[in-house]
Amino acid sequence: MGTAVTADGAGRRELAPGAVHVPGWLTMAQQQELVAACRGWARGPAPIRHTKLPRGGVMSVQTVCIGWHWQPYAYTRTADDVNGARVAPFPHWMVELGRRALVDAYQDETAGDGYTPDTALINFYDGQAKLGMHQDKEERSGAPVVSLSIGDTCVFRFGNTETRSKPYTDVELVSGDLFVFGGASRFAYHGVPKVYPGTGDPATGLAGGRLNITMRATGLNG
Ligand code: SIN
Ligand code: MN
Repeated sequence: MGTAVTADGAGRRELAPGAVHVPGWLTMAQQQELVAACRGWARGPAPIRHTKLPRGGVMSVQTVCIGWHWQPYAYTRTADDVNGARVAPFPHWMVELGRRALVDAYQDETAGDGYTPDTALINFYDGQAKLGMHQDKEERSGAPVVSLSIGDTCVFRFGNTETRSKPYTDVELVSGDLFVFGGASRFAYHGVPKVYPGTGDPATGLAGGRLNITMRATGLNG
């Protein structure tokens, strides 16, 4: 627990064992590149959409997936609840970004060794969108989740592995921030109760809203 200083001078904070927030990790140029890439994936092959929930509702967040397609509560190669298309491949440059994220978050040159994320859920929050407390648990791997945020600032609620309620810690995730949850925190409940509209810098390429990318290793083959 506690704070430390990263190579680029930003304050790094471990909220719980394995759960690390690194403010200002992405440069503006990286944010612009990620926005452009996500804009392309949002168009297809399986366009971004409000995910349907099993009981008939839809999520307020819009999501597009790469590598593997997630829908409640399974991964498939094809976006069967969208248009049936095979999702875009997970690019190697994003694997490398994920590895560097682990090295910097855990301040350990070896932390990225053997980390091969093969899916990312790309979430877009506009207006009143939010995300309830949940665990990322469809993956058959305990490898860390790497989360990148661009655009509007949000409240990210990071909880515990037992219940979707307290104890939890609220942190503000700002454009460019990295958040990693692995180790003992990998299956902690988390959510996004609030986004602050109009707080992002349009220079990222996002005129409004919040973009979040979570890379994961599914542990699946095929
Ligand atoms: C997620 O839990 O999948 C997304 C988290 C976020 O938007 O910060
Ligand atoms: Mn999640």
